[in-house]
Amino acid sequence: MKLLEAVCLSKAYGERQRWFTQQTRLVSAVEEVSLSLERGKTLGLVGESGSGKSTLGRLLLGLEKPTSGQVLYRNTDITALSSTAMRKIRRSMQSVFQNSLSSFNPLFTVEQIVEEPLQNYKTGTPKEIKNKVVESLELVGLGEQHLRRYPHELSGGQQQRVGIGRAIALRPEVLVCDEPFASLDVSLRRQMLNLLQGLKSELRLSYLFITHDLSLIDGFCDQVAVMHEGRIVECLPGNEMKMRAVHPYTKSLLEAVPVQEPRLRRT
Ligand SMILES: Nc1ncnc2c1ncn2[C@@H]1O[C@H](COP(=O)(O)OP(=O)(O)O)[C@@H](O)[C@H]1O
Ligand SMILES: [Mg+2]
Repeated sequence: MKLLEAVCLSKAYGERQRWFTQQTRLVSAVEEVSLSLERGKTLGLVGESGSGKSTLGRLLLGLEKPTSGQVLYRNTDITALSSTAMRKIRRSMQSVFQNSLSSFNPLFTVEQIVEEPLQNYKTGTPKEIKNKVVESLELVGLGEQHLRRYPHELSGGQQQRVGIGRAIALRPEVLVCDEPFASLDVSLRRQMLNLLQGLKSELRLSYLFITHDLSLIDGFCDQVAVMHEGRIVECLPGNEMKMRAVHPYTKSLLEAVPVQEPRLRRT
C-alpha cells in the first residue's frame, strides 16, 4: 500500500537577482518528481548537496506548498487541506533532522522536549504522558536519568536520540529523516542506523531516509531514489544499487563512496 506519494511535484523559489533590486529569478529546487513510499518500507533519497532532497522532504511533510503537483497521504491530497485537517495528518508524519539540538528549545529539559508533541495533541493525562515520554526514551536507548538533563549537556549521538524520541512520541506512521546522522562520527552512524531499523519493526514505521552518504544505504533502504538537480534520475533497489545503476550521475556518486574497510581499498 502506498502511504505517501509525490505526483509530478515541483517547487520553485524566487531568488532576488541583486540585493538592491526587486527583480527575482525563479530557482527550481524540485522538478516534476513522482515517487512513493510503501507502507513498512524504507525509501532512500540520495544526491549531492543542493539537489533538492530537503525541499522534497518538506513538501512531502506538508511543511511547504508545492508550485505544482500533489502530495498524497493515504490517497488524500494534502496540498489542498485546511489547517485543521492537516493538523490531524501531521501527527502521523514526523521528522528527524541533522542537527536536532538547533530544533530544541534550549530552556527545555529532555522530558519537556519529548513531551511537547504529546501535550500539543492532548494525548492523555499528565501521568499517561509521562509514561509515554519514558517509554519513547527507552525505545531510543535513553533512560529516566536523562529526563531532567538539558540537551546541550548530552553528546551528539544522545541529542539525535532525543530528536528521534520526540519524533516517535506520537507513534507516527511515517518518519522523514533528513541526514539524521551526518554530524555524527562514522563509527556511530551504523549504531544509529540499527536503532532506526529496530524502531521500524517495533513501531511499524515507514521511512523516507535522506542522505548523501551512500555507505548507509546498503541493507537499510528497500528502494533508493537518486536525485540530481531537482529531478529523480533513477530508482534502484537498495541492496543492488551498484549492480543496477545505469545513470552516469548515480555511478559517479557510487564511485565517490569511501571504502570503510582498509583491506578492500586497493582492490
Ligand atoms: N527557502 C528557500 N528559498 C530559496 N531557495 C531555496 C530554499 N530552500 C532551498 N532552496 C534552493 O533549492 C535548492 C535545493 O536545496 P535543498 O532542497 O536544500 O537541497 P539538498 O537538501 O539536496 O542539499 C538549492 O539551490 C537551494 O538553494
Ligand atoms: Mg538538505
